[in-house]
Amino acid sequence: MEKVRKQLEQDLAGATSAEAVEQIRVNYLGRKGSITNLAKATDFSKLTADEKKSFGQKLNELKSFATQAIAAAVEKCQAAAPKRTASIDLTAPGLAHRLGSLHPITMTQMELEDIFQGMGFSVLYGPEIESEYFCFEALNIPDDHPARDMQDTFWLKNHLVMRTHTSANQVRTLQRFGAPVKAIFPGRCFRYEAVDPSHENTFYQCEGVVVDRGISVANLIAVMKTILSEVFRRDVTVRLRPGFFPFVEPGFELDLQCLLCGGKGCPTCGDGWIELIPCGLIHPEVLRHGGIDPKEYSGFAFGIGLTRLAMMKYGIRDIRFLNSGDLRFNEQFSPVF
Ligand code: PHE
Repeated sequence: MEKVRKQLEQDLAGATSAEAVEQIRVNYLGRKGSITNLAKATDFSKLTADEKKSFGQKLNELKSFATQAIAAAVEKCQAAAPKRTASIDLTAPGLAHRLGSLHPITMTQMELEDIFQGMGFSVLYGPEIESEYFCFEALNIPDDHPARDMQDTFWLKNHLVMRTHTSANQVRTLQRFGAPVKAIFPGRCFRYEAVDPSHENTFYQCEGVVVDRGISVANLIAVMKTILSEVFRRDVTVRLRPGFFPFVEPGFELDLQCLLCGGKGCPTCGDGWIELIPCGLIHPEVLRHGGIDPKEYSGFAFGIGLTRLAMMKYGIRDIRFLNSGDLRFNEQFSPVF
């Protein structure tokens, strides 16, 4: 044991690296190491009980001496080893966080909501999956009415339908709030459409209704003009022509002179005019569906093409960009917060 201990001390004194010390540990304390072998090479049957005891004690002392000496040697080697350079370069510039941005339709919708709220309108959101009743029947479009063909859509079970227009909220609102009422309903609509630069199967509208005593076309026109000049922050040219919708009487198409081509005609508008706001006085039958007496109250309704409005406002020439999910497109419209 003495010999082994001396040899160990000598070996450790000569070791200069942690790897060398590790080899020494294996040589002495490993499965076939010299200290381990000491016990194996001893014939215990020839020893007296006292001798066994004292041998065991000494061997344990040697083992713990070796363990400590080896640990100390490893520490010494590590302290002596040259310092590693830091693995993090604290002076390197950081990674910039990408800020999200709002979709142009979202921004246009938020702006419309602001403007209308400023004029005393409530903002309501109806369901995208709508009953046939609110989407068509309550709006004077019975099952056999040809107007249903203009708004072919995706039919679900149980007379449910992906709503073809936000007008579906008209009667919902009248039934719920009665008259007088002023509210808008922005939201997503669906139609069975062939997609081209100005048509999508999924698009946004912002419907509105005003019902009170003595509401006339003059009120309708005044509100629409105010809204559009607020949205575009400049004078816009509009034209009103008759339009047919079963749920308004009289009905109009309010067209906006195209802001992209200035009215000359382009792929987005065709003939220089954008059909932007179909509108009219609410049909007495619709008021009745809403539980409102048409002799006492009248009102107007309008359906702003929110998607088209966003295209006009931001100069987007192809409607297909809007639902593309392409961040390179979306990020261009980021508002400055
Ligand atoms: N809901 C009609 C459409 O999508 C538009 C409209 C709304 C017309 C309100 C008149 C009044 O075509």
